[in-house]
Amino acid sequence: MKEKTTFLRDVDDGFSHDPKYISSYYFYDKAGDELFQKIMEMPEYYLTNSELEIFEQQTEPLILSFEINPNEEFELIELGAGDGKKTQYLLKALLEKNFKFKYIPVDISQNSLSVITQRMENLFPNLQIDSQQGDYFRVLDELFISTKPKIILFIGSSLGNMCDEIAKKFLNKIANHLKKNEKLLLGLDLIKSKKIVLPAYHDSAGITRDFNLNLLQRINRELGADFKVEYFEHVPEYTETEGIAKSYLKSTKKQTVYIKKLSKSFEFDENELIQTEISRKYNDKILHDLLKGSQLEIKHKFLDSQKYFADYILVKK
Ligand code: AVJ
Repeated sequence: MKEKTTFLRDVDDGFSHDPKYISSYYFYDKAGDELFQKIMEMPEYYLTNSELEIFEQQTEPLILSFEINPNEEFELIELGAGDGKKTQYLLKALLEKNFKFKYIPVDISQNSLSVITQRMENLFPNLQIDSQQGDYFRVLDELFISTKPKIILFIGSSLGNMCDEIAKKFLNKIANHLKKNEKLLLGLDLIKSKKIVLPAYHDSAGITRDFNLNLLQRINRELGADFKVEYFEHVPEYTETEGIAKSYLKSTKKQTVYIKKLSKSFEFDENELIQTEISRKYNDKILHDLLKGSQLEIKHKFLDSQKYFADYILVKK
């Protein structure tokens, strides 16, 4: 978990930068978690249902692709576990087949972890579950102190929030920790037409707008700022050639915002943008390029029936 002082510093750095930005990492306070939960229920947000379909309808081949030894206990580590709705299909099948394993959900939000732990304990009284709270970049080092065989889940296209350079480093970090033949199940949203992608980040009920604006409200709550959110607009963008959905907050007038904990004011010009998120979309080539020079290779690829989303099984060489 990052310290509050880091939030303060990151806001200061991001607002002092030209163009202004804030990391999407800060979306997920309690209000943000709840809004993200609602986003996943929006008809426009196809990502969740597409990946859910893969987990629901291809559970057996997914598990087979892990190539786990039924006699040896392994650890199923889920990075950024969220609500566990998709993972529950895997857990159910693994338990039915009497695999011996411990499920370790990792999330920055203690609130999410409590929800997921409760849910899984209710569904599967026999499940061994041991949640880990923290930024998964950092938690990884601690988790790999144990020498049990591991399967890592990183689903929901969470990788898409990282620019390619950071994503590459992150995949490399996972690869360096894994032992030969251990797997990473990586869920990625695929490049597709703007007609489908853009509405996912611009739902008609305005939940994604509220999710984005919650960043400013969080700065108000936690850092004592005086943002008037009615003077900011949610601006999503996507071009199929680039394959990256971007979200901004646009200042609709020239205004000054004071942040008490920094004892500092920031100017926002009319139409000035604050970048708040990138959500990269992928294809095989982009993934290949990210894996170049790493110890991971693509072993399987599972698609939903509309081919909107892919779950890749990557294996450590
Ligand atoms: C959780 C990172 C996959 O980028 O699609 C949803 C977050 N942002 N709507 C995404 C998000 C706006 C989401 N990920």
